[in-house]
Amino acid sequence: MYVDATLGGGGHAEAILDRIVPGGRLIGIDRDEQALEQASRRLERFGGAVTLIRENFAAIRAVLLSQGIDRVDGVLFDLGASTMQFADPQRGFSFSVAGPLDMRMDRRQRLTASELVNGLAERDLADLIWRYGEERWSRRIARGIVRARPLATTVELAEVVRRAIPRRAWPRTIHPATRTFQALRIAVNDELSNLDNAIPAAAEVLREAGRLCAITFHSLEDRTIKHTFLRLSRGCTRSPGSSACTNGGKRWLRVLTKKPITPTPEEIERNPRARSAKLRAAERINT
Ligand SMILES: C[S@@+](CC[C@H](N)C(=O)[O-])C[C@H]1O[C@@H](n2cnc3c(N)ncnc32)[C@H](O)[C@@H]1O
Repeated sequence: MYVDATLGGGGHAEAILDRIVPGGRLIGIDRDEQALEQASRRLERFGGAVTLIRENFAAIRAVLLSQGIDRVDGVLFDLGASTMQFADPQRGFSFSVAGPLDMRMDRRQRLTASELVNGLAERDLADLIWRYGEERWSRRIARGIVRARPLATTVELAEVVRRAIPRRAWPRTIHPATRTFQALRIAVNDELSNLDNAIPAAAEVLREAGRLCAITFHSLEDRTIKHTFLRLSRGCTRSPGSSACTNGGKRWLRVLTKKPITPTPEEIERNPRARSAKLRAAERINT
């Protein structure tokens, strides 16, 4: 029994199912209804071996309980937005084609990027871009945005960001707005706190020697995974800012990747989006 906690288009789920069927079963979770539709078409041939559920992965325990499942052999997180989400201008994740300032993975939620961009005080906007984008020009960008408001589209926003950063400081390999867009996406989808909650919950549902794998695409996510794995391997699931151990000091994980696994040059050539990917894995102990 495996869980793909970030189903997306179903590519990883398909690869897992190819190895576990017949006999195995996979639960696929995503909070984006379009991802579920696409994955369900792709995984149709596996029939009853697959169950797809629209939910936040932070609720993984409740999802499994609702299926009468207590323990699983493996859980995979492939974090961030999907190719499909980036490719659809209407979703507002991409700055290359104009679309609304949306960026919600789950379109049932109310908060959109537009509310942050057009509604936050300049200082809060700057803090958000600094914190979640690690963008050193955050104050200038926030000032530029506030002066240009109201902004309606992704392309308008990208242009304002580009103009706010001195030309000599434009990054060489990415668009100058990349970090600002990442920051807004993380904030709209509350990505880091969902992850903080999901990793200990996933570790808890693993059976002895079950494995937890996480693929990240930027340093904030990678740091969250690394530190949570370390906490769980040292016997405390204390979350940042809290002093209490939530699992009574029991060691839950053995970390299998001292350093993250990164793609080979050949893989990057085949799949350029993988260039910043980092995979970390851990194994459940002491169930
Ligand atoms: C990088 S994509 C996964 C791609 C997938 N591995 C594949 O092979 O196609 C990440 C997916 O995770 C989903 N996602 C991100 N955060 C989530 C959360 N907190 N709960 C549920 N799904 C989430 C996104 O909607 C997106 O579809």
